[in-house]
Amino acid sequence: MPCPALPDGFDFTDPDLLQHRVPLPEFAELRLAEPVRWIPQSRNVAGFEDEGYWAVTRHADVRYVSTHPEIFSSTLNTAIIRFNEHIARDSIDAQRLILLNMDPPEHTRVRQIVQRGFTPRSIRALEQRLRERATAIVAEARALDGPFDFVTSVACELPLQAIAELIGIPQDDRTRIFDWSNKMIAYDDPEYAVTEEVGARSAAEIIAYAMSMAAERKRCPARDIVSTLVAAEDEGNLNSDEFGFFVLMLAVAGNETTRNAITHGMHAFLTHPEQWELYKRERPATAAEEIVRWAAPVAAFQRTATQDTELGGKTIRKGDRVGLFYASANHDPEVFDRPDEFDVTRDPNPHLGFGGGGPHFCLGKSLAVLEIDLIFNALADAMPRMRLVEDPRRLRSAWINGVKELRVSAGE
Ligand code: HEM
Repeated sequence: MPCPALPDGFDFTDPDLLQHRVPLPEFAELRLAEPVRWIPQSRNVAGFEDEGYWAVTRHADVRYVSTHPEIFSSTLNTAIIRFNEHIARDSIDAQRLILLNMDPPEHTRVRQIVQRGFTPRSIRALEQRLRERATAIVAEARALDGPFDFVTSVACELPLQAIAELIGIPQDDRTRIFDWSNKMIAYDDPEYAVTEEVGARSAAEIIAYAMSMAAERKRCPARDIVSTLVAAEDEGNLNSDEFGFFVLMLAVAGNETTRNAITHGMHAFLTHPEQWELYKRERPATAAEEIVRWAAPVAAFQRTATQDTELGGKTIRKGDRVGLFYASANHDPEVFDRPDEFDVTRDPNPHLGFGGGGPHFCLGKSLAVLEIDLIFNALADAMPRMRLVEDPRRLRSAWINGVKELRVSAGE
């Protein structure tokens, strides 16, 4: 099959693409014809001449890269394939302290510690409180007069509360965390007018906030994960800096992703009414995973090759950047029957929306699945006749498949 001719300057990380065209038809073409393809980034952004990246679009290849950290390193900024005028390279240095950007053995050490906060037991312990919150969030939205924005009234709330509960952030401080994490993620969207300075200040504020929490719990331990993670600054625990960066990552990794999964899930249900009917009737436990497959809230992450290697018939050179396109892998017909159908009973569903199964596989997956389940169960109970009022307004972003606004009505 001939290589598809992508238009000159075509770049999967162009923030305007995700804003206007999802899923991207170019993924389907590349999966068939050139599943590992070099995408030059010729645009000189922020004064940097970017060198381009390999677009990896097939499920099997994304898994391979994710599960070979010795060949494909995470140490250099995994999240941002595209540098832009709001992210200078020197701010990348600080990111080395974030779990997502570490390689084994350092990653293994930190992950083993933070994992203690995410045991099935600690997630189960949150379930009842989160169920009550989900019911309350939906009841409040239902009480609104007329159409409302699903993103701000429903989808934002539970992820924020879940992380705040998990870390033990007092109720009064929760909106600050929300505001900070929004600013850090929305730098590509002119509507939010987030400058590098504002983004960096937000990050610094979250870190300072978390470090002061850590110091307080060291003085006066409580029965929460902060106390567990920072109890003693020895090899088996996080130091205050590491804890600060961990909370920073949770604020982004847990908030924005789950919020967008919930919003895309609602949109998918409203545009596939037979799936909503089925869901209301049978409440399949498989629905949350299908929503994440379908939505791929994290469209892509990247790795950097540590040595020359072969992938998909191409030679990848040491130092080359490699983009893992989860949004493409989740529609790979080699793995999924009817990949472009939204089917909440899909089982098995080996999607890569939570990552490709390597050491960085999403730490918050069980929590995210629980939140998605709780919110859709509450919606099915209290607002079974929801209607779409307007098409979603999408976030302009190079890697988050986000929605800023989704106008719906309770349909009563
Ligand atoms: C990592 C997706 C929810 C915490 C990741 C990765 C993806 C992802 C794609 C990277 C995997 C890799 O690089 O191989 C999602 C999606 C979510 C979600 C789609 C919601 C639907 C959450 C939540 C939390 C969380 C609720 C925590 C409260 C993390 C952490 C990592 C991570 C800590 C880094 C793990 C590491 O580097 O070892 N997530 N995530 N995520 N996620 Fe999630």
